[in-house]
Amino acid sequence: MTQQADGVGDNLSRIAAAKSVGEAVKTAGDHLQKSRIDTARLDARVLAAGAFDMSPEDMLLHADRLAPADDLSRFAEYCDRRMQGEPVARILGEKEFWSLTFKLNEATLVPRPDTELCVETGLQILAGKGLTAPHILDLGTGSGCILISLLTELPGASGVGVDIALAAIEMAQVNALKLGVAGRTKFLQGSWDAAGKGLGKFDLIVTNPPYIPALDIRLLAVEVKDHDPQRALAGGDDGLVAYREIANIVARSMRTGAVLVAEVGNGQAQDVVEIFECAGLVRALDWCRLDLAGRGRVVVAEKC
Ligand SMILES: C[S@@+](CC[C@H](N)C(=O)[O-])C[C@H]1O[C@@H](n2cnc3c(N)ncnc32)[C@H](O)[C@@H]1O
Repeated sequence: MTQQADGVGDNLSRIAAAKSVGEAVKTAGDHLQKSRIDTARLDARVLAAGAFDMSPEDMLLHADRLAPADDLSRFAEYCDRRMQGEPVARILGEKEFWSLTFKLNEATLVPRPDTELCVETGLQILAGKGLTAPHILDLGTGSGCILISLLTELPGASGVGVDIALAAIEMAQVNALKLGVAGRTKFLQGSWDAAGKGLGKFDLIVTNPPYIPALDIRLLAVEVKDHDPQRALAGGDDGLVAYREIANIVARSMRTGAVLVAEVGNGQAQDVVEIFECAGLVRALDWCRLDLAGRGRVVVAEKC
């Protein structure tokens, strides 16, 4: 038996001995904590909700419910995967973003809470311009989380999502359908320059491109470096390669008045706005939006 199979067996037997849903969650939380998972109790609850097909609220209300054996063994397997460093969202194949649930596959980044700032910023800009039916482009759309979230807030809006990964495009299409905006979206496989290929005139371009510098990738948490797609992370030697390409394309092919909203990595805001300016874009008045930790997370530039 392999080491991993041993682990599954151990965890399975301990969790499978649980008499109730509540006891299974408590036992799993203890095991995850021993494995030094920072969010052990929360992860146990979320994984249990998936394995037992119960809402987190129901699990609290019905903690004494007897758990079926199949569900218990699924829960044990989930916990074992979590102990090996797999993120909860990968195990469950979905992640909440902007209070919506997005399905994930191997080609999609797990959407991050920080990226909600792109949605918030985009909505503020469109409201400021009085645009209620804007046409939006999302470069590097992944699961489609930014574009789809914007469209759910703007019933008159339409948009195009572009990604180099075909499997990501397929997942984004599934999410758009599930979240009721498929009729207003188009998803295309292609590189950044797809933006300049006659897709129409965009009022807003959003992007969360790969921005991790090559040498920093090995320093990332196991959850990220071993489970998020490399194509979603790798930003070239200095982490800024995608911004240069996107800036040139946007500057060349976007209509006057179009606004570019880009997520940036830690410490990259100044460099990115300068890249945008070099390409001929103009930084917006309020060009650097801060995340909850007070770091520059989103950069805004315009084509004038
Ligand atoms: C950081 S992820 C962002 C995904 C999603 N927008 C989000 O915020 O969760 C970057 C995305 O860019 C895509 N990508 C990487 N290089 C690309 C390129 N040259 N052209 C288009 N998309 C690219 C990746 O496949 C990945 O889905």
